Amino acid sequence: MSTTPILVLGATGSAGRRVAAHLRALAAPIRPASRRSATRFDWNDRSTWEPALQGVGRMFLMAPDGVPVDPDFVALAADLRVEHIVLLSSRAIETIGDQRLLRAEEAVKKSGCAWTILRADWFDQNFDEGPFRQAVLAGELAVPLGDCRQGFVDLEDVAAVAARTLTGSGHTGRCYELTGPQALTFAEVCAVIQDVTGRPMRFHGGEDAYRAAHASVGRSGASVEREITAYAALRALGDTELSDAVPRLLGRPARTFRRYAAEAAAHGSWPPTPGATGTP
Ligand SMILES: NC(=O)c1ccc[n+]([C@@H]2O[C@H](COP(=O)([O-])OP(=O)(O)OC[C@H]3O[C@@H](n4cnc5c(N)ncnc54)[C@H](OP(=O)(O)O)[C@@H]3O)[C@@H](O)[C@H]2O)c1
Repeated sequence: MSTTPILVLGATGSAGRRVAAHLRALAAPIRPASRRSATRFDWNDRSTWEPALQGVGRMFLMAPDGVPVDPDFVALAADLRVEHIVLLSSRAIETIGDQRLLRAEEAVKKSGCAWTILRADWFDQNFDEGPFRQAVLAGELAVPLGDCRQGFVDLEDVAAVAARTLTGSGHTGRCYELTGPQALTFAEVCAVIQDVTGRPMRFHGGEDAYRAAHASVGRSGASVEREITAYAALRALGDTELSDAVPRLLGRPARTFRRYAAEAAAHGSWPPTPGATGTP
């Protein structure tokens, strides 16, 4: 294995933290970076870019939600001879018109570096570490996808695939769609959370419920309507087609949503409600 470090961006976040852990388990030399990491990296502070990239062999590239991957940063990585970039992207970005991630993919593809793109479906961890955590705590989630089935994927699997592609060969120029082992509706996923935690969990799959949920936290207008349009496009795509990339690349089955939820509950991710009787 190479002794040049692998730069892991977003190393304090849900994805990057797990990528770093999987790389450590493979005894790969890593350089974790973010605004709060020992190697300070800030998308908004160009002076942090070159020190983070200097002497790096490969890179796990991610940007937090809403933050673009600056093409100048990718070009700098190529100038500094980063050999291989593994980009965290998302499923169906053409369909939902996610210009941020489409541009990120484009920048990586034309960088001149070897690249691999990981197009992940909804992370399971959205429910305890991410944007749906508050909804779980409130017992009510609104996502305007009706009963459309999604390929919820465990970030442990995404990170394991990232670590594999960052340390192995044969992944150059590949775009891997990463899903879990089952396509589930949001209602089914909420039922699993209710089952393992004993917390009551209601799901609303319509657009008006989504508007109402966001209005209740002071969000309305154009940005919410844009999200509803994106969700409508995703709904029109129909049920997610499952991918075999996780089992193929890892040589083991992808982790189920139930396993994720049971482990998260057992680790105390969601405080129990009084009198709850979950069955983790
Ligand atoms: N949620 C999903 O279902 C899903 C599915 C597919 C793809 N994705 C993609 O996954 C990404 C989100 O990943 P995540 O869940 O791991 O995010 P996250 O948990 O929110 O972590 C964000 C990371 O970025 C760092 N960060 C924040 N602002 C920064 C800045 N200005 N400069 C440098 N680093 C910064 C944070 O650390 P510091 O605070 O220490 O800087 C943290 O390490 C997004 O691009 C999203 O599109 C999400």
